[in-house]
This record gives sequence, structure tokens and C-alpha cells, in this order.
Amino acid sequence: MSFIKAYDFFNIIKDILTYVLSDVSYLSDYCNKKEGIMMKDVKEVTFFRGDGIGPEISDSVFSVFSACKVPVHFDVYDVGQAEYDRHGKLIPDEALASFERTKVLLKSPVTTPVGKGFRSINVTLRKKYDLYANFRPAKSNPAVPTPFPHTDIVTFRENTEDLYAGIEEKISDTEMHSIKVITKAGSERICRAAFDYAVANGRKKVTCVHKANIMKLSDGLFLNTFREVSKDYPDILATDMIVDACCMNLVLDPTQFDVIVTENLYGDILTDLTSGLIGGVGLMPSSNCGTDMAMFEAVHGSAPDIAGKNLANPTAFIWAACMMLDHIGLSDYAAIIRSAIKSVMDAGVHTTLDIGGTASTTEYTDAICKEISRLMTAAA
Ligand code: NAI
Repeated sequence: MSFIKAYDFFNIIKDILTYVLSDVSYLSDYCNKKEGIMMKDVKEVTFFRGDGIGPEISDSVFSVFSACKVPVHFDVYDVGQAEYDRHGKLIPDEALASFERTKVLLKSPVTTPVGKGFRSINVTLRKKYDLYANFRPAKSNPAVPTPFPHTDIVTFRENTEDLYAGIEEKISDTEMHSIKVITKAGSERICRAAFDYAVANGRKKVTCVHKANIMKLSDGLFLNTFREVSKDYPDILATDMIVDACCMNLVLDPTQFDVIVTENLYGDILTDLTSGLIGGVGLMPSSNCGTDMAMFEAVHGSAPDIAGKNLANPTAFIWAACMMLDHIGLSDYAAIIRSAIKSVMDAGVHTTLDIGGTASTTEYTDAICKEISRLMTAAA
């Protein structure tokens, strides 16, 4: 009898410890129950923590979501080189299974070796799950002075083809080939995504950016497909521009652009340029959508030069998290978070170094969390 009691006691303690120590989900579940949110209302989202500044800006998202009591449970995984060194895989199988189950992924940046080593995790995920539409908005912010205060450009970058298809061939030690892949189907769906967005969001113009004067077959196919698709959208002005001219025009007068649709490589380069117009990569979120799965991330990389120094600007990643909330039908929470960020940026006291402030990542995050609490108390 006493043995059975001791056994029960041991198991009860074991269950409690397992529950408490399981993962961060326990705490958010507990808070949600306490706040009267039913477990069935809590949405599950897969989260990849990445490396470099990834863990720091991930902590910012966790803090902000906790302050806003967002009914989301993050299924968190570490990915990248450190994970490979520990367990022999860049992305654990369970992490991929989680994304396949939840269909929604929030991903912080991951380092990719340059000129050697493994294929980019980003490129791998985009290709594996056919996340073909990469949406990258660049809008000037009054709190961040730049020479281009009226920039408001949305870029749709094709995410699965082009030179990023990963078809490279060694001909000899002194000659390497890289194959550019452009298909009509791939071109058509990204052009349609850009036009559909323009119609749904009151945009007036879509510009196709290409280099069809030189790559007459591949870029020619992309441009011709754009022209065909544009006929289905008679209310939207359809223009096109060669990529080098586009770079010049972007820095001369970005207000001449509205929606840009382009191929993978041009889109990658042009959106770093458009982020520069609005104050830097720390301010540009992005989504990568397929037919039924979506990945959200900041446009920037793992910033090894400032990693671990509490200097990173988490805004782009928090905004990406807000885009994710819009996607899963929690726009009310996204609106509170965006509003708090705006207040903190407008006040200008707790902003990070990259946009002219002096605050650390955690000071800035704390200021956003305080503002969220103030907004929620005021609304209660
Ligand atoms: P990067 O975007 O990491 O950094 C470029 C410059 O911007 C650096 O000076 C950095 O300090 C600064 N910066 C970037 N994010 C910032 C932030 N949130 N706050 C303040 N400053 C910020 O680009 P880089 O250095 O070319 O790439 C570093 C690594 O990241 C590479 O391995 C690259 O392959 C990888 N990468 C990963 C991406 C992803 O996971 N989505 C996207 C782009 C690059």
C-alpha cells in the first residue's frame, strides 16, 4: 500500500515537472487559460529560431506576443549550422513535420556559408514547399528620416526559379555554369499575384522588371507572360523596365514605382535597395506564400557583425510576425502590435542604432511591450 502511494506520488511529481519543463508553450497555454481563452482558440505556428541575431530578435517576438496575449502557441525549433553540428541536420525532421502540419512558419534569419558549404535554408524551404510568392513591402516611416520620405513600393519576387534553382555545373577547374530556369507557369502565377494584390489594395501600377534585351528567351518569357496576364487587369497600368534602369530610377525617384513584379535574383537585389530607401533592412518584413503554406521572415540576414551584442533592430521580424497574424486571422492583435511599434518609433527615445537611436534590442522591445500594455489597458 505504502509502495503504491509512493509510486503515485512519484508519478504525480514527474507529471508536474514534465508539464512545467516541457517548453515555452506551457506558459503561454497557462496564460491563455487564465485570460479565459479556450485552448481550441489558440493557433499553432511553427517557429525556426535561426542563428546570428536570430535568437535575439526571436526573443523580441516572444516578449511582444506575450505582452499582447496573442493566442498563438509557437512550436519552436533551432535550425542552421549549430543544429547540424549537434544532430547532423540543418533542419530537424520534426521541424519540417511541424511546418507541414501547421502550414504556417515564422522564421528568423539563418547564416549561409558563402562560396562553399550547404545550400541556403531559405532557398531550400521556398523550393521544397513551393512558396513561390515573395512579398516585400518598402514604405517610408516618418520616424526614420531618409532622402526618400514618400517611398511606398511593394515587390513581388518569384521565389522558386531563376538562377536560384540551384542547377550549377563544374565544366572544369576554370569554368563553372549556372542554369537560369524560367517557366511560363512560374511567371504567370507570380504576375497574377502582383496584379491581384494591386486590385485588392487600390494600387494603380504594376512594373515588370527584367533583362529581356539580353536574355531574350528566359527573361523574354517572363516579360511576355507579364504582358499576357496584364490584359486580365485593365484597370491597372502595366509597365516594364530593364533591371539596371530600374536601379537608377529607384534612387532618382522611388515614387514612380507602385507594385514591382520580378524574377528571383533581381527581386533579391532590388529589395535590399528598396529597404535602403526606407532606412535599412531592419525595417522590411516579408512573406513567402504558396498555395496552402506560408513562411514569414525579415528580409535581412543573420547579421554576424552585430550578433550577440543586443544591437539588432527586431522591427522587421516583429512586422513579419504581424503579417503572419493577419494571415491566420488574428489581425486585431497585429494592429495593437503595429500601433505600439509606431508610438515607440515616433517618440524616438528607445529606437535602435541602425535607425539613428541609442537603444539596445531589449530596451526597444521593452518599450514596445509597455506601450502594448498601455494600449490594452486603455481599450479594456
Ligand atoms: P545581413 O542582412 O545579415 O546584414 C547586412 C547589414 O545589415 C549588416 O551590416 C548588418 O549588421 C545589418 N543588419 C541586418 N539586419 C539588421 C537588423 N535587424 N538590425 C540592425 N542591423 C541589421 O546580410 P549579410 O551580412 O550579407 O548576410 C549575413 C548572413 O545572413 C549570410 O550568411 C547570408 O547568407 C544570410 N542571410 C540570411 C537570410 C535569411 O535567413 N532570410 C537573408 C539574407 C542573408
